[in-house]
Amino acid sequence: EGSDRPPGIKWSFAGPFGKFDRGALQRGLKVYKEVCANCHGLSYVAFRNLAEAGGPGYSVAQASAFASEYKIKDGPNDQGEMFERPGRPADYFPSPFPNEQAARAANGGAAPPDLSLITKARSYGRGFPWFIFDFFTQYQEQGPDYVAAVLQGFEEKVPEGVTIPEGSYFNKYFPGHAIKMPKPLSDGQVTYDDGSPTTVAQYAKDVTTFLMWTAEPHMEARKQLGFQVFVFLIIFTGLMYFTKKKVWADAH
Ligand code: HEM
Repeated sequence: EGSDRPPGIKWSFAGPFGKFDRGALQRGLKVYKEVCANCHGLSYVAFRNLAEAGGPGYSVAQASAFASEYKIKDGPNDQGEMFERPGRPADYFPSPFPNEQAARAANGGAAPPDLSLITKARSYGRGFPWFIFDFFTQYQEQGPDYVAAVLQGFEEKVPEGVTIPEGSYFNKYFPGHAIKMPKPLSDGQVTYDDGSPTTVAQYAKDVTTFLMWTAEPHMEARKQLGFQVFVFLIIFTGLMYFTKKKVWADAH
């Protein structure tokens, strides 16, 4: 479809021993909250998840305090009325639009997708035969590479031969180039309190790391168990070898 191939990024979570960078997860949550949440939901993530092992590393008290900054629609109460109350750890991130029609109406006809699983949803974009190569190379990182690229792929100057319809924006990496998301990030937009650079590249990397965690919150435990299984199988193979020699020692 003529879009550029996203550049590969060195992710902390890549490879068999990959781990999420806690600082990136916390900064990425801030970028999501202050920027992306205006249009995109995160409806599979609950506030309590922010305090779970393998995530951004907040305490239960911090996750509660974070939740209480949100207004959650609830009800009906005993009078049959709907009402709003502060968020609790068990609540899920509220979505910015009440339904898909409202989301489309506010965004020129394209509903902003829920971001909970987006890094996985964009992982398997390449068909036969490319997925065979991808399996051995950047299989797992395709999704995050693409998401980070799209956030940085907006350009004022539209290349010759490309026409962008009214209400769409040119993006180097979006398939077909015309995306209905306006450029969401610019330098200095979100403040960081850990001294990390406040650039579009850094925001894109941080929010994508955060979205990789929302899509696979137990990745670290999965990789650790996978490694243990390999160690066990190697030891077990050795034991079985010597067992076999002993059992068959007298065979003629
Ligand atoms: C689409 C991420 C902010 C509106 C998307 C897509 C991603 C994404 C990954 C999917 C692209 C695809 O289909 O391949 C983000 C992130 C944001 C952000 C991480 C914050 C940094 C915003 C904001 C708005 C918005 C603030 C509204 C002003 C949309 C819309 C689409 C979209 C309308 C659908 C585009 C289309 O299908 O043409 N976004 N977004 N996004 N986003 Fe965002």
